Amino acid sequence: MKKTAPAKVTLPLRVNGETQEVSFLPHRTLLEVLREDMGLTGTKHGCELGECGTCTVLVDGEPVLSCLALALEFEGREITTVEGLAGPQGPHPLQRRFAELNAAQCGYCTPGFLLAAKSLLDREPAADRETIRKELSGNLCRCTGYLKIFEAVELAAEDLRRG
Ligand code: FES
Ligand code: FES
Repeated sequence: MKKTAPAKVTLPLRVNGETQEVSFLPHRTLLEVLREDMGLTGTKHGCELGECGTCTVLVDGEPVLSCLALALEFEGREITTVEGLAGPQGPHPLQRRFAELNAAQCGYCTPGFLLAAKSLLDREPAADRETIRKELSGNLCRCTGYLKIFEAVELAAEDLRRG
C-alpha cells in the first residue's frame, strides 16, 4: 500500500518582531523551519544533538537549542534569531565587540554565542567573568580559545550599562 506524505501544518510564528504564517511538516525542528522554510540561515546547523549550542535562538528571551525543539510548539512565542539582534542604531553592542576583538573567527559558533550572551546580559547586566563562562559553557567554539569571546561579552555589558 502506498504511504501518503504527512500533511503540513500552517502556524503563525513570531520571529524577530514579525508574525508570519509558515507551512511546514509537523516533525520539523525549529532550526529546520527557521533555516529552510523561513530563509533565516543565520542560525547555524551543527551537531543536532544538543551539544554544540550553535543553533541557539531566544524564545521569550530564554536560550533554546532549536535543533532539539519542534517548531509547532512555538506558536505565539517571541522568537529571536541573530538576524533580529541589530536595532535601528545598528549592530548590537555584542556584535560590535565581537567584531572589534576578533571574537568571531570562522563565525560558525557566533550566532549561538551572541544570543546566549544577550539572554544573560538582559537578565544580569553586571555578570562577572565566572558567570559569563558558566552561562556560555553550552556553546562550543573550535577557533577562538574563548578568551576573546568572554572579553567581548564583558565589554558589551559595559556598553549596555552606559546606555
Ligand atoms: S546544532 Fe543544536 S546543539 Fe548543536
Ligand atoms: S569562531 Fe570558529 S567555531 Fe567559533
